[in-house]
Amino acid sequence: MDQTLLLSVLLSQLCWSVSLDLQYHFIDKKMSWSEAQSHCREQHTDLASVNDMKDLKNLKAAANGRTDAWIGLHQTSDNPTDKKWHWSQPTVRYKEGEAQWTPGQPDSVTENCVVMTRDVKWNDTPCHYPHIGFICYNESSNTTVMISNKGTWSEAQQFCRTNHTDLMSGLDQHKLFQEQNLTLPSFCWIGLFRDTWSWSDRSDSSFRNWNSHTSINPETKKCAALGAEGRWESDDCGLKKSFICEGAPKRKKTLVKIKMSSPVDPNKFSSEILQQLQKQFEANNLGDVKLTWKKDENQPVFKKQKSSTEKKSSSKKRSSSKKTEL
Ligand SMILES: *[C@@H]1O[C@H](CO)[C@@H](O)[C@H](O)[C@H]1NC(C)=O
Ligand SMILES: *[C@@H]1O[C@H](CO)[C@@H](O)[C@H](O)[C@H]1NC(C)=O
Ligand SMILES: *[C@@H]1O[C@H](CO)[C@@H](O)[C@H](O)[C@H]1NC(C)=O
Ligand SMILES: *[C@@H]1O[C@H](CO)[C@@H](O)[C@H](O)[C@H]1NC(C)=O
Repeated sequence: MDQTLLLSVLLSQLCWSVSLDLQYHFIDKKMSWSEAQSHCREQHTDLASVNDMKDLKNLKAAANGRTDAWIGLHQTSDNPTDKKWHWSQPTVRYKEGEAQWTPGQPDSVTENCVVMTRDVKWNDTPCHYPHIGFICYNESSNTTVMISNKGTWSEAQQFCRTNHTDLMSGLDQHKLFQEQNLTLPSFCWIGLFRDTWSWSDRSDSSFRNWNSHTSINPETKKCAALGAEGRWESDDCGLKKSFICEGAPKRKKTLVKIKMSSPVDPNKFSSEILQQLQKQFEANNLGDVKLTWKKDENQPVFKKQKSSTEKKSSSKKRSSSKKTEL
C-alpha cells in the first residue's frame, strides 16, 4: 500500500480567501442620484453608506478633497408621520418609549430636534433654532459635559464630535447627566432628532453629518451629497453629480490545485499540511488569508491521480460508446 502511494501523484484542492476593509470609490462621472445608485449596484455594492466617524474619515480619504458627490442617504417619505427618532451617537439605538417628554410633547411634526428643559424633561423644537447650550457625552471620561455656547443643533453636534464624543445620547447618558447634578441654564440640545432619511444599502445607522446650513427635512432636496470638510448637504435628486460607491467587505476566493508525491498517505496529515501552508502565508505577509481544503462529502482531501494511459483508455471508451449511441 505504502509503495503504490510512493509512486502515485496525489491531487487536492486548496481554497484561500482574503478579507478586505469596507472601501469607498469616488466615481468621477456625473449622474442623477438614482443613476448613481444603479451604477454602484452594478459595479460595486451600493452607493456609500456612512455609519460612524471612522467611515466618515475613510469617505473623506476616498474623496481626497473633492466635494459635491452623492452618497447613499435619501429621504424615503414625504409623510411626516413616517419620521423616526434617532440618537446622534450612532452606537446608541433609540428605543420606543424611552423619551422623557414634558407632558404634551412632542407637539409638532416640523420640530425635529430635542432640547432638555430645566426640570430635565425633553421638548421637540426646530433644529435651526439657536439655543444657548448643549450637552455632550465624553466616552473617554464617561461623563456628560455642559457647554454654554449658542448654536443650532448641527453646530452643537459638530462641537461635541470634535471636542468630545457626541451629543448626549440615550437614557444611560441621561441618567449619568442627572447623577452629575449639573445645573441647566435653560433649553439645552441633546442628541435626539427625527427624520425620514435612510440609506440606499438599508443600513439602519442613525449617523448623520449635515452641515449647519442644511435643514434636516428639506421640502424638495431629498438626496444627500458630500460637501466641504466631510459635512453633508441635501440637494435635488435629479441633479447630475459625481458620487461615491461602497464595496462590501468582500472575501476573494481562489482555488488552487496541489499535486503531491508522498511516501505516506497525506490524507493522514491534511490538517498539519494546512497549518504549515498557513504559517508560510503569514511569514511572507501575504495578507489576511484563510486556508481551507475543498472537501467533498466522504471523500479524502487528496485523491490518487489516474495515470495518463488510464485516462486515454477511459476517454476512448467514452467516445466509442457515443458512436454506438449514434
Ligand atoms: C459610566 O458611568 C456610569 C455611572 O457611573 C456607569 O453605570 C456606566 O457603566 C459607565 N459606563 C461606561 C461605558 O463606563
Ligand atoms: C472645540 O472646542 C474649542 C474650545 O472650546 C472651540 O473653540 C472649537 O470651536 C470647538 N470645535 C468645534 C468644531 O466646535
Ligand atoms: C473628552 O475626550 C477627549 C478625547 O475624546 C479628551 O481629549 C478630553 O480631554 C475629554 N474632555 C473631558 C472634559 O473629559
Ligand atoms: C448629587 O446630589 C446628591 C443629592 O443632592 C448627592 O447625594 C450626590 O453625591 C451628588 N453627586 C455629585 C456627583 O455631586
